Amino acid sequence: MAASTVFADCCWVARPFRGLHLRRTLLLSSRFNNRMFLSSSVFAPVAMTTDTSSKLLDGKSVAKKIRDEIAIEIDKIKETTGIVPGLAVILVGSRKDSQTYVRNKKKACEDVGIASYEANLPEDCSEEEVIEHISQFNTNPSVHGILVQLPLPRHMHEEKILNAVIIEKDVDGFHPLNIGRLAMQGRDPLFVPCTPKGCIELLRRYEIEIKGKRAVVIGRSNIVGMPAALLLQRANATVTMVHSYTKNPEEITKQADIVISAAGVANLVRGSWLKPGAVVIDVGINPVDDPESARGYRLVGDVCFDEASEVVSAITPVPGGVGPMTIAMLLSNTLSSAKRLHKLK
Ligand code: GUN
Repeated sequence: MAASTVFADCCWVARPFRGLHLRRTLLLSSRFNNRMFLSSSVFAPVAMTTDTSSKLLDGKSVAKKIRDEIAIEIDKIKETTGIVPGLAVILVGSRKDSQTYVRNKKKACEDVGIASYEANLPEDCSEEEVIEHISQFNTNPSVHGILVQLPLPRHMHEEKILNAVIIEKDVDGFHPLNIGRLAMQGRDPLFVPCTPKGCIELLRRYEIEIKGKRAVVIGRSNIVGMPAALLLQRANATVTMVHSYTKNPEEITKQADIVISAAGVANLVRGSWLKPGAVVIDVGINPVDDPESARGYRLVGDVCFDEASEVVSAITPVPGGVGPMTIAMLLSNTLSSAKRLHKLK
C-alpha cells in the first residue's frame, strides 16, 4: 500500500483544505428513531464540557457488544425457525485494501452465525458479468443482503451496478431509493449506510445528545459524508458540510459541538480547528510512512489525535473507532433484512 507523508504528523503545517483533492477514504459504513438502530446499551455517558481531559469513544468494545447481541439473536432465530441470515459480497479486482475489508466482513459474519456468499471477479470482467451475479443473489432466498465492494474498477459504471441490487437486500444502503428516503422527512429507508450509521450508533451508546447541537461533517462522499450529514439532520442537529471548496474550514469546524471527519486526509483537522468540549468522530483511515513499523506504514485518522485530545471532550481512536462499528452495522443490517424478508419480529 502506498503511504503518503503529507500530513503525516501533526507538526506538519497542513495545506489549506481548499483545493485539496479529496480522495475516497480508505474505508474506502419512523423519523430518526431507534427502530433503525439496535437495542440500547449505554457506555459511560459523555458530557460536553470544557474539561481538557478527553474521553476515548471505544468503537472496538462497543462493536464487540453489538456483535454479541446480534449473535444471540441469530442463535434464537436459527433455533426457532431454522432461518440462517445470509450476506453476499461481490469483489471485483484485486485491490489489497478491498480484499482485506471483504475478508474482515466474512470473518465477522462467521463469528455471529451469518452465512456468507462470495463472488470474486477479475478486474477486467464486464459490467454485465457483475450484474449477472447480482441478479442471482437477488433471487437467491438464502441471501438477505448484497454488498458490492467499492471502489469498482474505473471502466465500470458504479451507479448502474449498485442500482441492480434490489432495495430489499441493499444492506449498504446505497440504492437511490434508500438514500432518497434518508433525505426526506416522514420517509424511512430500508437500510442506512453502515459507516455513518456506526458513527451515530456510537454517539447514541455513549448518550451523546445530537438534538439541537451544531454538527460539522468534513467530506461529502456518497458512502460517508453525505449520509452522515443526513443522519445528523434527522437527529435534529444543525448541520454544515465542509469540503474541498469550503473557504474557511477551520473557522466553520470550530463552531461545531460534533465533528464527523471523513475527508481521507491524514491529520487534516488540527487542535486549533476544534471547539473546547466538542465530540469528534474520525472516520479517516490514512496510511502514512513509518519506517519503525514492520509494514513500513501506519494508519492515522483525519484528525490530529494528540492535539485534539487536549481540546475535545471525546474522540474516536484510529484504528479502533469507527472501523469496527461499520462492520457491526453491516451485520445488523443483514439481520434486519433477514427478519424483514421472513416477516419475523
Ligand atoms: N468501500 C469502502 N467502504 C465501503 C462500504 O461501506 N461499502 C462498500 N460496499 N464498499 C466500501
